[in-house]
Amino acid sequence: IVVDYGGANVAKPLHIGHLRPAIIGESLKRLYKYLGYNAIGDVHLGDWGLQMGLIIAELSERQPELPYFDPDFQGEYPKEAPFTVTDLEEIYPTASAKKSDPEFSHKAHQATLELQQGRRGYRALWQHIMNVSVADLRKNYDNLDVHFEKWLGESDADPYIPAMVEDMKARGIAVQSQGAWVIPVAQEGDKKEIPPCILVKSDGSSIYATTDLATLVQRMQDWNPDKVLYVTDKRQNLHFEQVFRAARKAGIVPPTTELEHVGFGTMNGKDGKPFKTRGGGVLRLETLISDMTDFVRAKVVENRIVGEDQVEDTTSKIAMAALKYGDLSNQPTKDYNFDMERFAAFEGNTGPYILYTIVRIKSILSRYGAWENLPIQEPANDFAKDLMLSVTKLGPTLEQALKTSSPNLVCAYIYELAGCVNKFYHETRILSEEDEKLKAGYIALIGLAKNILETCICILGFSAPEKM
Ligand code: ARG
Repeated sequence: IVVDYGGANVAKPLHIGHLRPAIIGESLKRLYKYLGYNAIGDVHLGDWGLQMGLIIAELSERQPELPYFDPDFQGEYPKEAPFTVTDLEEIYPTASAKKSDPEFSHKAHQATLELQQGRRGYRALWQHIMNVSVADLRKNYDNLDVHFEKWLGESDADPYIPAMVEDMKARGIAVQSQGAWVIPVAQEGDKKEIPPCILVKSDGSSIYATTDLATLVQRMQDWNPDKVLYVTDKRQNLHFEQVFRAARKAGIVPPTTELEHVGFGTMNGKDGKPFKTRGGGVLRLETLISDMTDFVRAKVVENRIVGEDQVEDTTSKIAMAALKYGDLSNQPTKDYNFDMERFAAFEGNTGPYILYTIVRIKSILSRYGAWENLPIQEPANDFAKDLMLSVTKLGPTLEQALKTSSPNLVCAYIYELAGCVNKFYHETRILSEEDEKLKAGYIALIGLAKNILETCICILGFSAPEKM
């Protein structure tokens, strides 16, 4: 199974729009792995399109004396990049804002085309952009505990493009239309119009659909997956419909390989409006994470939950749970409102509540002693029975979550299970039970519930602290 998620575009810092693809994709991948599939996560970086041309064009205006722009330059290019990641964060938006200037726009498109065609200086500059930017992206995904098996990108599809395009032209899969090469993909019975998939633009450059098709060539060749899942904003639905149909039509993907677009909705601010900084800009993901962390840290410190040396570790675990559970507990396709106070609350349907339940069980278990091999006894009361029934739902829940690509089902399940644990705890004397056999059965039962809760939060991508 290939899970294509993350999808960051290089040279731009991660912003809040990158939160959902990262955490939904990571949890789907972990779910597949847990259920025994061989799942490969591929970040599929956006590193081959117009944004690269925009940066090259902008640099050529700022520092025209650099050797990368001299077509006659024969020597070796400098090892050091002529910019830092902070420079790039300013260069890209500046260049992007100039797209409306026809002259600059032409220059950027030309640079994109020449980069793709292999112009030496542009490839060298591109490598610098990649080195500087990818290191930063890795750091940011690591902070989110999101890890990819493969760090491939659109550019890695490039070597597969010429043969693929030639073949599609030769077999009449691709046809000419207004100077471009397109693959007609409309089908009888379509409820809305599905425009042709553009394979090569009239200026000869490749676009998003081209690299996605060539990436499928690479994936089939290298991994021969049973399924490829794409986790992106649901507004890319049409793009994937076109790509999937084109891939089937061209025979790039056999009927036995499933293609699925997991389209997700928008994360809005607490007021239901698109998330913006006070200045009206795009909020960086780093800022969102550090705001949540600061908020949680204040609670941890105020409530004296742990000793000073544990504050940072506990805080970051609770903050991750708040952030990820807050997102994943919604059906992916739905928009939701990001509400820091609500997500970080220790009570209610939240990540911290689940952690709190785990920590509470752990504390009882540690007071009991060795518990791992104790047998579970028949239910002594209705609360024990409800908890047992809830425990049995793990398997079917995970299967259903996988089948429907819905991590929210895992969240709903552990919320129910945690509720059963807490009711049982409140209604039953566990440690003070005098019947040793009964007591051991209780302990075994909550121990099992703890294991299940831990397994599920690991699938969701977070973990529990020792104390809370
Ligand atoms: N870079 C793309 C974007 O920013 C997402 C890539 C998703 N994956 C794919 N194979 N198209 O929208």
